[in-house]
Amino acid sequence: MESKVDLIAKYDIPAPRYTSYPTVPYWSDSPDTETWLDQIRNSISAKDSKISLYIHIPFCETLCTFCGCNTSVTKNHSVEEPYVEHLLKEFSMYLDRIPEIRNTEINEIHFGGGSPTYLSEENLKQILSGILENVKVANEKSFAIEVDPRRTRKTQLETLREYGFRRISLGVQDFNPEVQRLINRDQPFEKTEFVTKTARDLGYDSVNFDLIYGLPRQTLSTMNYTIEKTLELVPDRIAFYSYAHVPWIKASQRLFTEADLPSGPEKRKLYESGRDAFERKGYKEIGMDHFALPTDSLWTSFLKGKLHRNFMGYTESKSDIQLGLGVSAISDAWTCFHQNEKILKKYQRKISEGSFPTLRGHILNEEDLAQRKLILDLATKWTVDLPKSQLDDVKSYLSTMEGDGLIEWKNENLRVTEKGKPFLRNICMALDLRMRRKSPDSKVFSQAI
Ligand SMILES: C[S@@+](CC[C@H](N)C(=O)[O-])C[C@H]1O[C@@H](n2cnc3c(N)ncnc32)[C@H](O)[C@@H]1O
Ligand code: SF4
Repeated sequence: MESKVDLIAKYDIPAPRYTSYPTVPYWSDSPDTETWLDQIRNSISAKDSKISLYIHIPFCETLCTFCGCNTSVTKNHSVEEPYVEHLLKEFSMYLDRIPEIRNTEINEIHFGGGSPTYLSEENLKQILSGILENVKVANEKSFAIEVDPRRTRKTQLETLREYGFRRISLGVQDFNPEVQRLINRDQPFEKTEFVTKTARDLGYDSVNFDLIYGLPRQTLSTMNYTIEKTLELVPDRIAFYSYAHVPWIKASQRLFTEADLPSGPEKRKLYESGRDAFERKGYKEIGMDHFALPTDSLWTSFLKGKLHRNFMGYTESKSDIQLGLGVSAISDAWTCFHQNEKILKKYQRKISEGSFPTLRGHILNEEDLAQRKLILDLATKWTVDLPKSQLDDVKSYLSTMEGDGLIEWKNENLRVTEKGKPFLRNICMALDLRMRRKSPDSKVFSQAI
């Protein structure tokens, strides 16, 4: 059996994170706007169907050099009002063309970014009132926001609580000042502590921290410090992301030197020190990158087999449609993906002209739908039952991983072992028929480790 370092050398290859299947570079059959609207109508026609809304706020006051998100960096807050107007107009265009949305329950709202708390209290209100006065809200709802603790005020959290927000995700990344300097993110512990405690006092009942391993000049000692400070604040969930280094897509990642990045085996050790510390404190590992306390709904949902994975990572359940509003937002009607224009000006221009800002998408064929379900099972349950027709092929693809003790078979059932958990992305690739037929034309995915 091979040592850990050899395994890392073997499996540290570019690999998708499988927040969708097909993965975005393999989207081919793009819907035109009318087809997209029909897809939504089909998805919400079923009785009791629910809509989950994703609202993208792209703005940040400063740029963190590691960042892979769709952002628009400016300290000039005059961008807020026009953006809010365009968002609301986009939603009203959906209501005009699909009046059924008014009678379909909204069970989730997720504010993502960028930094949603870039917006003033007044503008947050404008968006939420503008949407909520036109729809029905489910009794069991989950409203969540991603915040940058450096720029989050108590009054913003109060405003969101008034609209029923109870989940908050804080961008922490790393507590070490030198790492923070290199990623252009000066974030004293006290700011993170303030937002965490204020949110709890206001009645937010799930607090998530985003941490990243693999950042420039992170060492075991800096990582242990970050983990220790994190555990002091006892977040309910921890997203422990592997740093995705994609400088060919994100030029700002060239602003630090690659020599400062931990190597594959070093990066793995950072992950393991985090995982071990979280598990010692009672956190449970959930699929790729996530940990949750046993009291958190992400874990209870995993136990019930209801966990879902989408563009936002892991969620407690699957909605019939995830409707994305705002620049670059992605929607998912299960049988079809749809992404809005990624450039702010283009997005706003299209909306002003009264047209939907479709950039691209993908209509899933039967094979895609079947593979999507299999990959989702593996990514949310660590196990999947394969159809007989794929068994020989997948067994042969995974034979080396089986030899390395990363997976086990029981008839048609494939199970990821403890040792195999860090290699989940590699294992999912066995079911990714599109990628196995054709490697990507250019470098698109970050490394698996
Ligand atoms: C929209 S941001 C979170 C909210 C806020 N903008 C902030 O930074 O505090 C989403 C998260 O994506 C993660 N992220 C961004 N770029 C990444 C990268 N290149 N590799 C891994 N994770 C990344 C970070 O952990 C970040 O907190
Ligand atoms: S990490 Fe957050 S605050 Fe930093 S640039 Fe990215 S979205 Fe903006």
